[in-house]
Amino acid sequence: MRLTQCHNFHDFRRLAQRRLPGPIFNYIDGAAEDEVTYRRNTAAFKACDLVPHILRGVADVDLSTTVMGQKLAVPFYCSPTALQRLFHHQGERAVAAAAARYGTMFGVSSLGTVSLEEVRRAHAGPQVYQFYFHKDRGLNRAMMQRAREAGIDVMMLTVDSVTGGNRERDLRTGFTIPFRLNLKGMAQFAIKPMWGINYLTHETFSLPQLDAHVDFGGSAMSIGRYFTEMLDPSISWDDVAEMVQIWGGKFCLKGVMAPADAIRAAEIGCAGIIVSNHGGRQLDGSRAAFDQLAEIVDAAGDRIDVMMDGGIQRGSDVLKALSVGAKAVGLGRYYLYPLAAAGEAGVTRALQLLRTEVERDMRLMGCRSIDQLSRSNLRFRPA
Ligand code: LAC
Repeated sequence: MRLTQCHNFHDFRRLAQRRLPGPIFNYIDGAAEDEVTYRRNTAAFKACDLVPHILRGVADVDLSTTVMGQKLAVPFYCSPTALQRLFHHQGERAVAAAAARYGTMFGVSSLGTVSLEEVRRAHAGPQVYQFYFHKDRGLNRAMMQRAREAGIDVMMLTVDSVTGGNRERDLRTGFTIPFRLNLKGMAQFAIKPMWGINYLTHETFSLPQLDAHVDFGGSAMSIGRYFTEMLDPSISWDDVAEMVQIWGGKFCLKGVMAPADAIRAAEIGCAGIIVSNHGGRQLDGSRAAFDQLAEIVDAAGDRIDVMMDGGIQRGSDVLKALSVGAKAVGLGRYYLYPLAAAGEAGVTRALQLLRTEVERDMRLMGCRSIDQLSRSNLRFRPA
């Protein structure tokens, strides 16, 4: 199977599975516990039907949207995700370049494998920095400072990961950071030689956002354990209010699920919230982000920009989220499988396919611009 034979999410996923060592594929593909929330994220979209309008003159379609003051040419963006150079040696460089090509937002993660400064220098488009609130307050201050000096547009604090999710696939495969080729890994290396050669012949794996602060001391830990040991579960609204003040620019919370929390986020000065359950990777049993979106949009009103992520696989999913009231939607696995499958060319193709689907579906729905999408376009089927 080649890149040109990939026409959708499922094709990219299959190609990624072929190319990646099992533990790495399962780190991307897996979620918490029974992975109920992970499956619900996708199922929620499928339980919602579109009701198109006809004959509305849709020769010209405008896909642009503005979110947290950032103008995006398409209503989807690449959410910050961890460890990208492990999936493909081009890592964040590839994702940032593809996002820039489509005029959309991209984010570097605290657990990113390319420095936020490098990506900032490379592209002028809207960039977020994904922040985890660590126990080490010095690290938190230094990260905010770095992001400010680099000229990051939006600070995005992930609030659903104050402790590690119970990711049983990672426990089973022994997936850890820093990534180590243990005996099992060596066996995988033999089965996936292309991945191994690329990994070994490119820049050594590192976590440039953390390296000056975190001493792994020769040990390796699962992502779940990293969260539990390094992140601060005592984080409260007061801490975040202080961060919003210190940052002074656009600030958003990722992982909001309750309407009251959306209101509180607006009250402390956040510009946006992302309705998200972290791709089902944290609290299994948490409601699907799409199912929870309407309540949050209604509670938030015009006070704050609402985005969502989780389960987006098709242009029609994007349209459904926008119809409920999201200003834009975030992609995670949707671009990570293509990244693993083919680096920048893979992510570019995936974004191009999604843009084409969104544009086609806008026409088929009878909508010329994002603001013409509304709940009158949707019917929800009983579960
Ligand atoms: C994850 C973190 C790192 O979901 O965002 O694995």
